[in-house]
Amino acid sequence: MLADLIRKKTGAEPIKYGLILGSGLGHIADQVDGVAIDYADLPGFPYAGVSGHNPKLVVGNLEGVRVAVLGGRMHYYERGQADVMRVPIETLHQLGAEAIIATNAAGTCEPNTRPGDIMMLDDHINFAGANPLIGEDTDQRFVSLSDAYDPEMRAGLRAAAQAANVEMSSGVYAWFSGPSFETPAEIRAIRRMGADAVGMSTVPEVILARFFGMKAAAISVITNMAAGLSSENLSHEHTKKMAPIGAKKLEKVLRQYLLQQSG
Ligand code: HPA
Repeated sequence: MLADLIRKKTGAEPIKYGLILGSGLGHIADQVDGVAIDYADLPGFPYAGVSGHNPKLVVGNLEGVRVAVLGGRMHYYERGQADVMRVPIETLHQLGAEAIIATNAAGTCEPNTRPGDIMMLDDHINFAGANPLIGEDTDQRFVSLSDAYDPEMRAGLRAAAQAANVEMSSGVYAWFSGPSFETPAEIRAIRRMGADAVGMSTVPEVILARFFGMKAAAISVITNMAAGLSSENLSHEHTKKMAPIGAKKLEKVLRQYLLQQSG
């Protein structure tokens, strides 16, 4: 089992949380006091080829809590496989994770939210229409997503943001497949459907986490106004440039949250 290999290198103590870092946010992995393993040395871990990611697993302590951090993720758009993150998510479960906290870079559909802000996910819209559980042939596949984003964790993260003096909104994240950005018409449509932010990740990982019986929470770092809401040209360069601004806030909230859990 892959988890045995990881435990051999990083220690037997179970982890409490699995953290998944999005585009431009991978440096948080380097702040964990622990042992890093390159994805290349973990059979079944998809090598995250998108620039701005940090493709290694780090197991250790952050604010006194044992965590495993995925420094990068692979996206649906890279291979057309919605379950591309299944092995890493299952591995977090095998290492003992009670919950995952996913992070991502996202565009905001909500004009009052600005680049550099952070938004916690209350819920999502699977607009990509893909699902990582297609092909799973047990009744376990019929996963309830009524409380996909755990209410208690959301309350904890909200309290952490307050305690850390960081403004954090919350809202609905819509998953688009990418890799092209959305059209202004798509953004107008998804806004009417109830989305506050759009992005190309997180939803399949949350579905997989729920499938494996873990709780889930997620936070978006807003890197841009969604298509049509500003004259700015959308690009991955822009995402990578803007992510570190919100990443500072994200890191404060995550650290404070873990601190609250460490007692
Ligand atoms: N759309 C989709 N994904 C994104 C965006 C966006 O505007 N910004 C960062 N990731």
